[in-house]
Amino acid sequence: MEQIKCCVPCLFGLEALVAQELKKIGAADVRAENGRVYFTGTRETVVDANLWLRTGQRVELVLGEFTARSFEELFDQTCALPWEQWIPENGRFPVKGHALNSRLHSVPDCQSIIKKAVVRRLGKVYGREIFGEEGALFGIRFSIFKDRATLMLDTSGQALHKRGYRPAAQPAPIRETLGAALCMIARPYPDTVLYDPFCGSGTLLIEGAMLTRNMAPGLNRGFAAENWPAFPRALWQERRSAARRAATPGIPFRGVGSDIDPKMAGISADNAKRAGVSDCLQFFTADIRSFAPETPRGMVITNPPYGERLLDQEQARALYQEMGRVFLKKPGWRYYIIAPDQEFERIFGRPADKRRKLYNGMLECNYYQYFKY
Ligand SMILES: C[S@@+](CC[C@H](N)C(=O)[O-])C[C@H]1O[C@@H](n2cnc3c(N)ncnc32)[C@H](O)[C@@H]1O
Repeated sequence: MEQIKCCVPCLFGLEALVAQELKKIGAADVRAENGRVYFTGTRETVVDANLWLRTGQRVELVLGEFTARSFEELFDQTCALPWEQWIPENGRFPVKGHALNSRLHSVPDCQSIIKKAVVRRLGKVYGREIFGEEGALFGIRFSIFKDRATLMLDTSGQALHKRGYRPAAQPAPIRETLGAALCMIARPYPDTVLYDPFCGSGTLLIEGAMLTRNMAPGLNRGFAAENWPAFPRALWQERRSAARRAATPGIPFRGVGSDIDPKMAGISADNAKRAGVSDCLQFFTADIRSFAPETPRGMVITNPPYGERLLDQEQARALYQEMGRVFLKKPGWRYYIIAPDQEFERIFGRPADKRRKLYNGMLECNYYQYFKY
């Protein structure tokens, strides 16, 4: 069966998790680099990667890699790639990308050279000079790093963190891919009761529920390659059915979310409903100061205010201190907190058992993990 080389860009710090997810769906030659993971697989693997990846940003087909020190080289080598294997005559093919530490550093110029080269190639194959581009989306992505160009086609369309359950904009939501990563690192058991006392729009609990129930995060959304002739509808239908069968909704996992903002309980409940996990999650309004879980065992995964977008640093630190008071060190309890403050452990009052550097967008954070008692 035809093997396709692919690339999954991701947030810095999540490469190993993306690689782990790719291996689980049967991808081969999985290789992580800074902010991206390469793999090879069949069309079925590409579809599964779109449906199943919790921590990757998108799934791109790698069409070519070459050295490009001049616009001529970029044009000629782009033109030599078999774009017509994927893009039909009416395809829409916008070009986006970035260039770093390279002789070709002007992104708009590279964009327009690549566009012209693809038009030239397709023009020869389809026997026309002008393309209406009124059909399906075939997003061309390029990366030029140290004079090496990589040309890709984006099979995902909207980025994979857009699962389709969180339409409304909230003040400081965590990206779904990072939320899923925090849950994967903490590894809730099937019978865990998961708490998030700064739940906002409920992302961490929803991702935790979907992870624990083995629900594919992409089931409730569409992907660009669903409209590509090279990826038949039947293949998507078959892989979607397989993903639905793999879910284990019967497990006893539960999640409890609270937030001081009274709007958030309703917003989270709506999001949970759209994600198909409302039966195992509950939300209410509460201040962290009154955090007193009723279950004898449990796990907290949380993303408190940082003093960046919400509150100022002093107020955020007062909350970290409060968390140290209410997150009791006792058997059966584990706590996982993501925060950018280098002083977090001192203010919280205990050194973490483990910490891991992660990026929340561009912001360097630590994931403080407390699991020993
Ligand atoms: C960074 S946001 C959490 C975002 C959330 N992870 C999401 O994906 O939407 C922090 C949340 O803490 C809440 N918050 C602020 N002070 C609080 C307090 N004293 N007790 C409980 N929640 C508080 C805010 O209302 C906000 O929703």
